[in-house]
Amino acid sequence: MVSIRKAVFPVAGLGTRFLPATKAVPKEMLPVVDRPLIQYAVDEALEAGIDTLIFVTGRGKGAIEDHFDVAFELERTQADRGKSVAALEGTRLTPGNALFVRQQEPRGLGHAIWCAREVIGNDPFAIILPDELLIGRTKGCMAQMVDQYEKVGGNLVCALGVPMEETPSYGVIDPGARDGVLTEVKGLVEKPAAGTAPSNLMLPGRYILQPEVMSLLATQEAGAGGEVQLTDSMAKLIGSQPFHGVTFDGERFDCGSKLGFAQANFALASRDKDMGPALKAWANDLLTN
Ligand code: UTP
Repeated sequence: MVSIRKAVFPVAGLGTRFLPATKAVPKEMLPVVDRPLIQYAVDEALEAGIDTLIFVTGRGKGAIEDHFDVAFELERTQADRGKSVAALEGTRLTPGNALFVRQQEPRGLGHAIWCAREVIGNDPFAIILPDELLIGRTKGCMAQMVDQYEKVGGNLVCALGVPMEETPSYGVIDPGARDGVLTEVKGLVEKPAAGTAPSNLMLPGRYILQPEVMSLLATQEAGAGGEVQLTDSMAKLIGSQPFHGVTFDGERFDCGSKLGFAQANFALASRDKDMGPALKAWANDLLTN
């Protein structure tokens, strides 16, 4: 089986829920504690053994490219001052392994993925949505998915149970047989109307897909919200290729929403060995007074 070497990071969205913060700063560059969201996503891919990182960017997203470049002036100045540049570890991606393609209009996630078709070619590939911050319990979410891919191949989506009333906001799985962390996917529906979702298993933005999805995306009509939906093209693969959901073992923070973003910052900061104790004491005080 061909191993997963390529990951696509769609980062061309407008991030309107975070305006005005995202007027000039990409949503994916918003920091959770001390790292931008996109850094968590890239680290998750690298941990899973992926070495070709494809960013689908758009206008105003140049800061993402700069973040993963070598900051020559900064590094030289710090060295001249005898200061460490350890904090920059993991930000210098090797040229050739970090590729940037452009989505000229934000026409939806499906369209963003299709913009990477030439770089994907005939290889299976991963997709990581950086505004979904997934913290694995023992290993990262994509590493958990690659483990399952090595057993069953085909197409995999991360699957997460949510309260039924939240399903209209998400892509949702119509589940078949379950075997450990793997659930057979019989159908997929994007943003089902209230009360119609086939299960409470939503898609929190991690996928391993076969390259055939690209030709389906090429002719995919706009769906929910007037956007070209990845879920609609994935659904067409069911039946012709294996398709499974992988139950994620870990925590999810929806950093595309302000509440999820605030929760991620608090949760991760409160676990930090330096600031955690002081932050928790302060929060306790705040809540009890
Ligand atoms: P979202 O729908 O959460 O992001 O897409 P958004 O549209 O930027 O956010 P809001 O709703 O206006 O606040 C999930 C991911 O897909 C990317 C986004 O950048 C985000 O990382 N995306 C979305 C694209 O790359 N292109 C698109 O056309 C839409």
